[in-house]
Formats: sequence, C-alpha cells, structure tokens
Amino acid sequence: MSVDLFEYQARDLFEKHGVPVLGGAVAETPEEARAAAERLLPQGGGKVVVKAQVKIGGRGKAGGVKLAGSADEAEEVARAILGMDIKGHVVHRVMIAPAAAIEEEYYFSVLLDRAERTYLAMASREGGVEIEVLAVEKPEALARVAVDALTGIDEATAREITEKGGFPADVADQVVAVVQKLWDVFVAEDATLVEVNPLVRTGDGRIVALDGKITLDENAGFRQPAHAELEDEAGADPLEAKARAKDLNYVKLDGEVGIIGNGAGLVMSTLDVVAYAGEEFGGVKPANFLDIGGGASAEVMADGLDIILGDPDVRAVLVNVFGGITACDAVANGIVQAIELIKAKGGDMSKPLVVRLDGNNAEEGRRILDEAEHDIVELVDTMDGAARRAAELAAAGK
Ligand SMILES: Nc1ncnc2c1ncn2[C@@H]1O[C@H](COP(=O)(O)OP(=O)(O)OP(=O)(O)O)[C@@H](O)[C@H]1O
Ligand SMILES: [Mg+2]
Repeated sequence: MSVDLFEYQARDLFEKHGVPVLGGAVAETPEEARAAAERLLPQGGGKVVVKAQVKIGGRGKAGGVKLAGSADEAEEVARAILGMDIKGHVVHRVMIAPAAAIEEEYYFSVLLDRAERTYLAMASREGGVEIEVLAVEKPEALARVAVDALTGIDEATAREITEKGGFPADVADQVVAVVQKLWDVFVAEDATLVEVNPLVRTGDGRIVALDGKITLDENAGFRQPAHAELEDEAGADPLEAKARAKDLNYVKLDGEVGIIGNGAGLVMSTLDVVAYAGEEFGGVKPANFLDIGGGASAEVMADGLDIILGDPDVRAVLVNVFGGITACDAVANGIVQAIELIKAKGGDMSKPLVVRLDGNNAEEGRRILDEAEHDIVELVDTMDGAARRAAELAAAGK
C-alpha cells in the first residue's frame, strides 16, 4: 500500500533533505492565507502564488494555482480556491509560496519500476507540461535511466541523467547535486515515487524544486514513525482510514459491488470476475478490495462488513470465501454474528449480500446461513455465479 503526500508535505521533506525549495505556508482559511502572504511577499519580489493542495495533477490548468500581488489579493484568491472541486477533489488547504522568477522549467522523477524490478529515473529539459503528454508526443525528450538499487543515484548516475535529459551545461552541476538529494529523499523516506515538475531555473540562475510529489511505501511504516502523521494529514479516504484503524487490508475503488474475501489472491481474482460480470449489467464494478485474511473471526467479518456497508456507493456485497484453516462453518457463523452485531449497533443492513462458500466445511457453512434465514443473504455455489448475481443486484439497486 502507498500513501500520496500533498505538495506542501513533499516540500517539507525536500527541505529536510537539502533539496532547494521556496518558502511555503499552509492555509485553511482566506485569513490564514493573507497572513502567510504578508510574510512571504518580500521573498517573492512582491508576489506570491496560492496553490490548491489536492492529490491530483493539473491543478494549474483547473485554476488551482494563482498569482497574487498583495496580501489582499492573496486572501481573495485563496477564498476562490478553497472549496474548489478539482476533478472530484475538494480543496481544503492552500499553500502560499513566494513567486519565483522562472527562466526555464525542467522535469525529474525517480520511481520504483515494478515491471523491470529496478528503480527508474526520468528527466527532461522540457518540464512544466504534463509529462504523460511529453512521453507520448516527444518521447526522445524524456530520458529514462535505470537506477541500480545498490549504487543508487551516485554522482556518475546523476550526471548521466542530467546529460540524457538535455539540461543546459551552465546548470548541469547544480542539477547533478539536486538529483542526488532527491534520491536521498527517495531512500531515506522509503518512497516509491519522487517527482518534481517543474524543477526550475530561476532568474538568478538557481535550480529550485517548485512542485513536489511523493508517494510513500506504507510497508516501511514500521521504521518511519514520523510518517503516521503525514498519512493522517494526507486525509486518506475516510473508509480507508477506518479500515486502517481496524487493521484491515482495504482499498476503496470506484464501483458499486462491495467485496470481501479471504486471501489477497482470491480477492484480486474476485475483483476481476466481478468487473467482467458487471459488463453485462451496464458496467457495474467492484467498490473495494478487502482481504480479511486466513483466520478471520466473526469480529473481523463484522468490521469488514461494517466498512463496506458504510460505503454509500455500494449497492450489493459479495462475500467470497474459500475455507482453509478457518473452515466455512466458522466463516458462516462470523457472517451471522456480523449481521447481528451491525443490526444491534443500528447499522444499515438493507443491501443484499451474496455469499459464496467453498472449501473446508462448505456444506456446514451453507447450512448455517440457510438456517439463519437472513433475507438479505443469498447463497450462490460458484464464484462466477456469485459475481454475476452480485453485479446484477448492484445494477438493480442503482
Ligand atoms: N512559486 C511559484 N512561482 C511562480 N510560478 C509558479 C510557482 N509555483 C508554480 N508556478 C507555476 O505554475 C505552474 C503549475 O504549478 P504546479 O506544477 O505546482 O502545479 P500543476 O503542475 O498544475 O499541478 P500538478 O503538478 O499537480 O499537475 C508551474 O509549472 C509554474 O509555471
Ligand atoms: Mg506540477
């Protein structure tokens, strides 16, 4: 699992590791923006930028990055940007930064390249623009340099990246230094992505990271206690936050069929099967990934169901369990108790629940569910059949 940081959080981590950045302050109200602007205007030659803090690209184009020439104007601009909806992301905070005199905009990123089982650095003299567009329209302008995990971005690799990226000779030494620092951030913070777009050359010839994007590897959380705070502030999806608090392996997706299964592999294939079955019913899709693990107790089942039923997008739920160490009768009891628990707490139990039980003690499991006679529970024998039924019910409940 991974956590995307806001730009201001990335900026702070850059600063911590010596990457040249501009000053920056976060504001949640127009008044706070005004106060921050008053402080930062002198550094920006009488100008500041007000930047929407949302975890989606293309903020500038969407009107979420605006220049202001006075504290009054910064307040006004912040008022306009706060609350703005950028591709479904509501702006709750803005960052105020001094305006930079930009001469040129470059691009740099380093990421975990899972397909190649290595790290990959990408760099271009032509930054600022959407990099996906550059990669398609002018691939030769985007240098790609594989980074060996053992050597990392040492000076020689940084120089190779700088040369292949076509950076001008007069800033090459500075870029080499900055790229190495960005690698320090990548390693020290256990990131899977560090991206700077744009990395700029300012009027006075300095190289500065003007925007930053960092994705942290949550699997390294055990040795990064300071990251817990970043995650909270990062305003994760509320359902994901709730799941994390319960130690559940949950990822919110954008469909309508809630999914619970035991074992990551089984859940992954359940997502595929549901997405496939959903095509027949107007394109309904899985609403989440949730793996309750091998030895799931009734309580874990209840926690899982509670989270999925709390997702307003969910129209039907598919419970797909293959009994192994935890036999199906235990899982069935878990489901029955989970329903009782949720009902007792006054939770909404009106959405249909399609259950497929197979494996160890499946017969007994089905008998328990049959006997419980919960009218929302429907048993289906096969995984394909269950996926199809769940998709159908989700489509009907739309
Ligand atoms: N501090 C600054 N001073 C002057 N211009 C800035 C500053 N910050 C950003 N800009 C300008 O605004 C543009 C967009 O800013 P930025 O890269 O931060 O957001 P974005 O690219 O729209 O968003 P994202 O990177 O999330 O897609 C930059 O390319 C740069 O030209
Ligand atoms: Mg950018």
